[in-house]
Amino acid sequence: MSAILKDAPQQVPQLTPMRDADLAEVLEIESAIYSHPWTRGNFADSLGAGYQCWIWRRGGELCGYFILLVAAGEGHLLNLSVAVARQRSGHGSALLVEAMRMARARGAQHLFLEVRPSNLGAKALYRRFGFRQVGVRPGYYPDHAGREDALVLTLAL
Ligand SMILES: CC(C)(COP(=O)(O)OP(=O)(O)OC[C@H]1O[C@@H](n2cnc3c(N)ncnc32)[C@H](O)[C@@H]1OP(=O)(O)O)[C@@H](O)C(=O)NCCC(=O)NCCS
Repeated sequence: MSAILKDAPQQVPQLTPMRDADLAEVLEIESAIYSHPWTRGNFADSLGAGYQCWIWRRGGELCGYFILLVAAGEGHLLNLSVAVARQRSGHGSALLVEAMRMARARGAQHLFLEVRPSNLGAKALYRRFGFRQVGVRPGYYPDHAGREDALVLTLAL
């Protein structure tokens, strides 16, 4: 995994289960990087539902996290986030690799996710991993002007 990371490769973050006690830090990142961030309730519901909720922490610093749902042979990546200060250093790629590995280990044959058409960075990341577009959900996301579509992407695991 350290091969993917470009910053301080001698210290690789640890992937650990997200806990209630992490939510304040998670929400701080979430509100800094999304125009319409998940709420504490969204994270609490994911934890309560038993989704795969993982954080990526280096020392005391929370660098990122993801939320993954695996059911009926399919994985759904519901949230993938990297702290602003840590973006473009390989952490998103590292987390995506972990999510793919976890989904595969739980029997998923495909990984699905939604992304905003305007989210050029995330689209570039997913394209690099070989995700392909399989659909569009019209008006799926709220945005400042009303609603924005979601592109549905998938990758065979
Ligand atoms: C999308 C996100 C998870 C990517 O995480 P990251 O740690 O910056 O990603 P990486 O450093 O692993 O980037 C890998 C590659 O993806 C592409 N990429 C990532 N961010 C990009 C950006 N802002 N613009 C263009 N390409 C980008 C590049 O090809 C990059 O490789 P490079 O840096 O060598 O050019 C992160 O930017 C983020 O949390 N964004 C806000 C939340 C979000 O949009 N999440 C996804 C919702 S679907």
